[in-house]
Amino acid sequence: MFLLLLVSSLAAAWELDANVMLPVPARAVELNSTEGFAILVRSQYRSYRAVASHFTTQDTQSLCGIASAVAVLNGMNVPPPVDPVYEPYAYWTQSDLASNECLAAIHDPAHGSTRAQLAAMLSCLVRVQDVPAPASVGELRQIVAGALADSAKEHLIVNFDRADLDAEAGGGHFSPVVAYDAQEDLALLMDVARYKYPPMWFPLQDLWRSTLRVDSSSNQSRGFLVLSPPGDARWAAPRRGAVVGGAQ
Ligand SMILES: *[C@@H]1O[C@H](CO)[C@@H](O)[C@H](O)[C@H]1NC(C)=O
Ligand SMILES: *[C@@H]1O[C@H](CO)[C@@H](O)[C@H](O)[C@H]1NC(C)=O
Repeated sequence: MFLLLLVSSLAAAWELDANVMLPVPARAVELNSTEGFAILVRSQYRSYRAVASHFTTQDTQSLCGIASAVAVLNGMNVPPPVDPVYEPYAYWTQSDLASNECLAAIHDPAHGSTRAQLAAMLSCLVRVQDVPAPASVGELRQIVAGALADSAKEHLIVNFDRADLDAEAGGGHFSPVVAYDAQEDLALLMDVARYKYPPMWFPLQDLWRSTLRVDSSSNQSRGFLVLSPPGDARWAAPRRGAVVGGAQ
């Protein structure tokens, strides 16, 4: 009897686990599918190579902008502070950013941030272009293809509304866009709400549409942040792998 109960509760737990993620939107291609990988291999993916190793899950349901920034800052080798959790290793974490003085730009981080707030905060650390939703998908194509070209040193974070990407759970969101495929006009979105959606390719047209809806907390359209090295004294010598106290 006990064994039977154990088996059935294990089965129930497994069933629950199998349903944790939301269904992939119809027009998206999951990165981990055969097709998704093939697209990645043929696309320009410089930003994917830098960011994927540091791609992380948002710590709370309102920290999507901060989590996107953390993945990109680590991918860009922006000199990181030491989070006590990982001492003596220096690494950008969401709590590093949450305790950064620049966070003052986000007045109420518990309720997420607008694109302008996240841009203001990150401009303490890197060069930020705050790009409102472009007027056309053609304009977006130029921005994405330019930023993600192999020679570019730029990174993209999109601020979009999920409802316009056919996603089941709607609402405003941030995530890094890390690759563009010119052949099929697809963009790779690495969703920091990893408990909801896996990394997916979306038609650029859909991604563009998802940035048009007005953010009710700022009354402005959504859009993109383009992050690049500041090219000034804030960019101290790269410290990737550097540790305080010389421990290994
Ligand atoms: C891809 O990831 C999803 C979860 O997002 C998983 O359900 C699926 O089995 C994975 N596909 C492969 C081929 O492993
Ligand atoms: C946005 O617009 C609405 C309606 O016009 C207004 O009531 C509200 O105060 C505005 N919010 C901001 C942040 O400007």
